[in-house]
Amino acid sequence: MDGNGRWARQRGKARTQGHLEGLSAAKRIVKAASTAGIRYLTLYVFSTENWKRTADEVGFIMGLVKKYLRGELDFYRENGIRIRHTGDIAGLPADIAGELASAMEETAAFTGLQVVLALNYGGRNEIVRAINRALSAGETSVNEKTIALYLDNPDIPDPDLVIRSAGEYRTSNFLLWEGAYAEYYVSPALWPDWTETEFHEALASYGRRERKYGAVL
Ligand code: IPE
Ligand code: MG
Repeated sequence: MDGNGRWARQRGKARTQGHLEGLSAAKRIVKAASTAGIRYLTLYVFSTENWKRTADEVGFIMGLVKKYLRGELDFYRENGIRIRHTGDIAGLPADIAGELASAMEETAAFTGLQVVLALNYGGRNEIVRAINRALSAGETSVNEKTIALYLDNPDIPDPDLVIRSAGEYRTSNFLLWEGAYAEYYVSPALWPDWTETEFHEALASYGRRERKYGAVL
C-alpha cells in the first residue's frame, strides 16, 4: 500500500492525512476482495524498515492500526473475515500486539476472506526467524520444505498475485520466500485513490497471465 505520502503532498496536506485516506482505501479493498471471493489478502501495513520514519508518523500509523483492529469487528463478523498477522510480533508495541492478538482470537473461527496484516514485516526477517525456529525445534539442516514449515503462516498458500500501488517496481522486502512465483501487478494509482475498480483491473490482468513456474507449456 504505497503512495500515501505522495497523495497528501499533492494536496498540500500532512503525510498523516494520506495515511488516514490510505486506511479508507484498505477498507474498500478488503470489502472488494471479500466480495470477489478471494481467500487470502495480505496487506503490507508496516515494514521492518518503516521504523526509520519520524516518531510522529510511526505513532500515527500505529494508532490507526489499533483503531482499525478494534473498530471493525462488526464488519469482520458480518463478512466472516478472519484477521491474521505476519511479521515480528516481538518488535511491536505491547498495546498493538495485544489488539492484534484479540482481533485474531475473536475472528479465528470465521471462514471467509483471511486478511493477513503484515506489521513489522520484512521478508528477510521472516526467513531468518523461520530458520531460528527450525533450529530451536531441533532441525540440524533445512531445505525448502522445512523453511516453508517454519514461516509465520505455514498453512497459507503462496500468493498468486502481488499488487503494488504508486508505480514502484520493487519487492520492498515483501513475501520474499512466498512470492517466488507470484505474478506482479504495478499500478500508478496512489494507494488512497484505490477503489474496487483498480482492484478488479489487477485481477483482470492476473487472469490474462500464463503461469509456467519455470516450465515450458
Ligand atoms: C505507504 O505510503 C504507507 C506506509 C508505508 C505505512 P508511504 O507513506 O510510503 O507513501 P509515499 O511513498 O511517501 O508516497
Ligand atoms: Mg512509500
